Amino acid sequence: MQIIKLRVNGEEVETAIDPRTTLADFLRQHVDARSIHLGCEHGVCGGCTIVINGKMARSCIALAATMDGAEIWTLEGLKDDPAIVQLRQSFHECHGLQCGYCTPGMLITARDIIARYGEPDEKFLREALAGNICRCTGYAGIVKAVQHAAAQLARRD
Ligand code: FES
Ligand code: FES
Repeated sequence: MQIIKLRVNGEEVETAIDPRTTLADFLRQHVDARSIHLGCEHGVCGGCTIVINGKMARSCIALAATMDGAEIWTLEGLKDDPAIVQLRQSFHECHGLQCGYCTPGMLITARDIIARYGEPDEKFLREALAGNICRCTGYAGIVKAVQHAAAQLARRD
């Protein structure tokens, strides 16, 4: 077992873990971060996307043992973040989800895209979202929802 100490969603966490534990399993099992959805488990689908030290990352292909000292945010910790609140509303209004399995990863990714690029056009947005796979919607509603959220947030600035 290995001791790690890190911050998750603003809270300090110190625990002993098996060195082979993935970050996704650690966060789901030890911190109850059930917004992390495992699809492919090899870094392709984006369902397990979180924020590590300010950058987007796939938690299924990281080992928890390497996270000593890290600052991690999952969707649970971002529930009151203004961009996430708006994105949730826009996904609802624009039919940006069906089963919802991909949605947490989509929301975190969309938050990052809006923070970095403001109001991207559809072509750019489709490319920026290409790392997040949805098996349900065909992406039209998702793209519309992110553009809607970006526009609403830009109006507030
Ligand atoms: S489960 Fe991590 S990218 Fe698919
Ligand atoms: S809404 Fe079902 S996988 Fe995207």
